[in-house]
Order: sequence, then C-alpha cells, then structure tokens
Amino acid sequence: MEKPTHHIFVCSSFRASGEVKGKCSKKGSSDLIPYIEGEILDRGLDALLTSTGCMKQCDNGPVMVIYPENLWYGNVTSEEIVDEILDALEDGDKASEYILE
Ligand code: FES
Repeated sequence: MEKPTHHIFVCSSFRASGEVKGKCSKKGSSDLIPYIEGEILDRGLDALLTSTGCMKQCDNGPVMVIYPENLWYGNVTSEEIVDEILDALEDGDKASEYILE
C-alpha cells in the first residue's frame, strides 16, 4: 500500500449525528476544500485531503492540520492563507502566523 507523504485534515464540523454544526463550517471551511484539493494537484503535492469532524479547537476555526508534521493551523479563512500554509509545507517550513500552540 502506498501512503501519502502528507495528510491534510480540514475541520468541517461534523457532529456524531452527521450534522454539520460548528464554527469551522460557519466560517467557510468546507468552501475551502475544493481549493485545497486543486492546490494539491497543481503543486504536485503527495498529500491526501480529508474533511473531518470537530477537532475541539472551535474558537480558532477554521482548523487545518497536517501530518506527519503535526502542524495545527487556526483561522484558515481564505485561499490566501491556504497558499501560505502550502507554500511553507513545500519549503519544509511552517506558516508561523497561523500555528496553534
Ligand atoms: S468545529 Fe472545527 S474545531 Fe470544532
């Protein structure tokens, strides 16, 4: 089985009931998913994108997490911020301004 180099998770605020309810979704996280998928393809990143349930960081949403780097980003509210994060990932760095500590 081939495994991706990076696994990117974007909170889509799914609750146990399947209901989409939470701050990340209300702040547009789901709208960013097609953009992120497109950027992964355009950049040729070996990355898998997964939409998730609440990651318990609601006040910092939308939340985006990248493994295996264990980078937790908050306030990912625009395509420009996604670009900064992916630029940093390509450079082996992190977009410090949006890192959740
Ligand atoms: S809804 Fe995204 S972290 Fe809770």
